[in-house]
Amino acid sequence: MSLTIDFSDRTVVVIGGTSGINRGVAELFARHGARVAVASRSDDKVTATVESLQALDAEAMGFCADVRDLDAIEAGLAQVHDKFGDFDVLVSGAAGNFPATVNGMSANAFRSVVEIDLMGTFHVMKAGFQHLKKPGASVINISAPQAFLPMQAQAHVCSAKAGVDMITRTLSLEWGHAGVRINSIVPGPIDGTEGMARLAPDEATRRRVVESVPLGRMGSPADIGQACLFLGCDLSNYISGVILPVDGAWSQAGCGDLSSYLGDLVRQIESGK
Ligand code: HXC
Ligand code: NAP
Repeated sequence: MSLTIDFSDRTVVVIGGTSGINRGVAELFARHGARVAVASRSDDKVTATVESLQALDAEAMGFCADVRDLDAIEAGLAQVHDKFGDFDVLVSGAAGNFPATVNGMSANAFRSVVEIDLMGTFHVMKAGFQHLKKPGASVINISAPQAFLPMQAQAHVCSAKAGVDMITRTLSLEWGHAGVRINSIVPGPIDGTEGMARLAPDEATRRRVVESVPLGRMGSPADIGQACLFLGCDLSNYISGVILPVDGAWSQAGCGDLSSYLGDLVRQIESGK
């Protein structure tokens, strides 16, 4: 059996695609022939990512926008559509996270993560639909295990990502008639990322996380990219509304003891000890 994944003449848009996992996703699509657009808040990160995509011989562009700003997302996606045409794949992955207990965070702190992760996803879906190829487009929301596993010091992320997955599931019903598929990918702990730097900031914690993954290693951005290639191409033509963990079975095992470790650590910091 031979298998070729070829995104030539396809448009892939990755919101939050300028660092970490999502940048890895954008680069993997570029390596498979796609024209790729990325977006985030930082002009420098957008420019650097577009250059790296072009260095892979991909047609690439980017725009600066905060996903909390619906008008800015609408304007940016319209620019991409003008230049690259209908979107074959839309990945929504912008997110914010910091470890803090509910007692230790302000209402604004909770709101900021809900606004980025949940409202941001809603904005990308709301503004993106008109530009999707119909039928045929594939939409991928980047979720997290916190969406279905409660984790101490993560109530804001748990709440927001649970909402993201329910947007995915609801839109699979609402958008099916247009021939648009939508799924969530749930990355496990991904090595070298901002997310893990915030949740496992020292080597001892990092080791504990690695040991708690049934497959015995952290993931890489390429692991998530490969799942995105699958969900973005015809191999997954009949898959929609799925929440797909790509995590070495980490979530099956309850994400190890990261929850209790984070709770203890953050309570200690918050109490000033
Ligand atoms: C308590 C905190 C805090 C902390 C910020 N806040 N950090 N509260 N503990 N450690 C509070 C602030 O005091 C403020 O509340 C409110 O949160 C908003 O903070 P700002 O700095 O004004 O917000 P903003 O500039 O919009 O930045 C958003 C951010 C920031 C989420 C706080 O960290 C960010 O931009 N992050 C993007 C990158 C990122 O987080 N990547 C990791 C994604 S990993 P007050 O009341 O003072 O105004 C992920 C899942 C990983 O999502 C899962 C692994 C398994
Ligand atoms: P990251 O490097 O911080 O990536 C976040 C991206 O989103 C960056 O490009 C960032 O760029 C952008 N972004 C953040 N806030 C934004 C906003 N308000 N508007 C627009 N863009 C914004 O983090 P990561 O660790 O790779 O995580 C990527 C995704 O994977 C997130 O959805 C996260 O929840 C999920 N995830 C990560 C892990 C992990 O192990 N790292 C595990 C599970 C799930 P700017 O700063 O320029 O805006």
